[in-house]
Amino acid sequence: MWKRPRKQIELFHAPRICRAGALIFSVSILTIFIILTFKNKRVSIYPSDSQHLKWNSFWSSLQFQPTVEFVNGTDIIWQIPNSPKAVLFLAHGCYGRAANFWDRSPSCQNCVGLPEERLIVLQALHQKYAVLTISSVGSCWSFGDEERRVRRIIQWWVGKHKIEKLPILALGASSGGYFVSAVAKDMKFSSIVLMIAEGLFDSMDVPSDYPPTLFVHMPKDRIRKLRIKRSMESLRNMGVPVDEVECKGFPLTPKFLSDRIPSLDETFSVKLFELFREKGFIDENNYMKSDGRATQWKEAVKEIEPSADDHEWTDHVQEELNLAFGYHEMTSLQMEDIIRWFESHLSVT
Ligand SMILES: *[C@@H]1O[C@H](CO)[C@@H](O)[C@H](O)[C@H]1NC(C)=O
Repeated sequence: MWKRPRKQIELFHAPRICRAGALIFSVSILTIFIILTFKNKRVSIYPSDSQHLKWNSFWSSLQFQPTVEFVNGTDIIWQIPNSPKAVLFLAHGCYGRAANFWDRSPSCQNCVGLPEERLIVLQALHQKYAVLTISSVGSCWSFGDEERRVRRIIQWWVGKHKIEKLPILALGASSGGYFVSAVAKDMKFSSIVLMIAEGLFDSMDVPSDYPPTLFVHMPKDRIRKLRIKRSMESLRNMGVPVDEVECKGFPLTPKFLSDRIPSLDETFSVKLFELFREKGFIDENNYMKSDGRATQWKEAVKEIEPSADDHEWTDHVQEELNLAFGYHEMTSLQMEDIIRWFESHLSVT
């Protein structure tokens, strides 16, 4: 989560008479520094207080009570809080589905509740956004027909629930990011967030009233970082407001996995951490050496938990390991920035 640098300047050893001047001077320098540093780029830094990483802080007071429906050949899962102030459409990545965004509950027996997806939904509900998730028809999103189909579903759904007057927001990750970038050319979103995706701006006609676009990405993916830079330039040249948030890798802690994954207990989390260290999956500073996909961690876990493959938490752990490495993964750690982006463009519809 990006934090403003702390103002730690040694002002108070100066003689009394100089203090006011020194203060003004320092504040000006600091302000200039902040403006220069963060004007175009908000660098997201690992939240140093581990409270930030705990899933069960105040989000747990919110309940998942989604409604599951089957509409025109695809499933949609949604929840509308009391007095919603906006509608948020969420698009998963390849091999994702709507069920990944919601915890298993009596109203959604097949829901998966992947750790990052569920935290995105919880924070959006907390912000009073009506949340709509739709599954892609194939394993990844496709364009043309599927764009029209999803636009129809969104329009039908907001009409049915009489929330068609609310601003509509969209967030898509990876394949979902490309998809949202394409849907946004014909649908009036008040702003969009493209996560770990540069969008399809090279291959589509971008209308001049294209919605403000925030890119949330992981700079370790250098090729994508360059493509995002190009997308931002071309949107900026058309007068479309753009910004970016970079997400870096961060060190694992013994309780990191249980802090993020509701179904994983603390003892097991500590055991996994020790195992990963023993196997050399993490370096001396507890950073992942590769992402979860490229680490043979599942094989290693079988030594302490022979039935690991059958556990639903393996996907959840993998997601968190990718996130900690900081490479091409869904992330909820930047929701503060994301919500700030949405909120600052709510009135633009
Ligand atoms: C479902 O598909 C039919 C036929 O294409 C279409 O007329 C209808 O609007 C669609 N409904 C929704 C909710 O998208």
